[in-house]
Amino acid sequence: MKVISSYNGTDAAARTYQLLSRGAELMSACVEGIVLVEDDPDELSVGYGGLPNSEGIVELDAGVMHGPTHRVGAVAALRNIRNPSRVALRVLEKTSRVLLVGDGALKFALAEGFVEENLLAEKARKIWEYWRGCTPEMWNAAAIVGAGRVDPRAEPGAMTSGIDREVAAYVATHSQRPAGTVHLAALDAHGDMACVTSTSGHAFKPPGRVGDTPIAGAGFYCDNTVGTCGSLGHGESNLRNCTSFFAVDLMRRGVPPLEAGLEALRQIMTRAPAFDLDANGRPISDVRLYLLTADGRHAGVSLLPGNRMVVSDEMGTRFEPCVALFYS
Ligand code: GLY
Repeated sequence: MKVISSYNGTDAAARTYQLLSRGAELMSACVEGIVLVEDDPDELSVGYGGLPNSEGIVELDAGVMHGPTHRVGAVAALRNIRNPSRVALRVLEKTSRVLLVGDGALKFALAEGFVEENLLAEKARKIWEYWRGCTPEMWNAAAIVGAGRVDPRAEPGAMTSGIDREVAAYVATHSQRPAGTVHLAALDAHGDMACVTSTSGHAFKPPGRVGDTPIAGAGFYCDNTVGTCGSLGHGESNLRNCTSFFAVDLMRRGVPPLEAGLEALRQIMTRAPAFDLDANGRPISDVRLYLLTADGRHAGVSLLPGNRMVVSDEMGTRFEPCVALFYS
C-alpha cells in the first residue's frame, strides 16, 4: 500500500494512507485527503483561500479517476463551493458524465447538497488587490522587500512602501502569474489505484480559463493495471501534450516511472512554443509530475530544480526529492 502526493499534500497523504489502512474505500479515501488541502486558507493554489481570477472570483477545478472502473469525474471553473474534489467524486458516482463546468457544475453541486460560500479568504484577497494595481516592476520591487533585501535601484520609499507583510512574503517567492495545485495518488491493499488533482488554477487567470487539472490525461490519469500520473504547474503545457496519459502509456510499455516522467517533460520541451521559453530556451514556468506504478514504484520529476514529493507507506510519511530536467 502506498500514497504519493505533491509537496503540499503531506497531511493529505498521511490521512489517505490512514483511511486506507482502516479499510476505507479507495476513491473516497483519496478525496478525503485532498479535502484537507482544499480547506486550508493558507494554501493559496487550492480550494478555499485559493488565489482568484483577474476579477477577484475564485474558480476551482478538480478531477478524480478510479482505476478499477476506469471512471472519471471532474469539475471546472466551479465557483462558491470549497471542495471541488468532492463534487468531482459525486460526478463520478452519480452520473454517466465525466466533466461539468461553470454554472452547470454549480447547479449540480447545489442539487447534491453542497453549500455555497465566499471562497476569497483575506490573505488571497490582499494579494489579488496588490496584483490588480501592480506593474511587473512593482511586483519585482515588492519581491525584494518580501525577501528582506534592499533594492539598490529603488528610490527611498518608492513603490515598495506600505506593502502588507503577507503580500510581500508571497510576492518574494512567486512570479506575477503563479500556479499551484495539489495531486494525490494511491495504491491500496488490493492492488487497486486512484488519483485526484485539485486547484484554483493560475492566479489572476482570465475568468473561465481552465488548465490541465480537471482534464483526464492532462492533469491526472490512472490505468489500474499500469499506474498513475498527476501534475502541478503550467497547465497549458500539459493540455497541449496530454502529459499524464503519455507518461502512464510509457509505463505501460515497460518504461520505469522516473524515465517515463522525464521523457514526458522532454516532450513538453521539444514542442514548447517560444512564449513558454526564456532567452536561453529554458522553461519560464515549471511542470511537475508525480508517478506511481501498480507494483508500488514511484517517482517525482520537474522541469525546474528544487522540488519535493510526499510518500506515505509502511515507513511513514516523508518528503523525497524530485528529479529535475534542468539544473541551475
Ligand atoms: N496546473 C494547474 C493549472 O494550470 O491550472
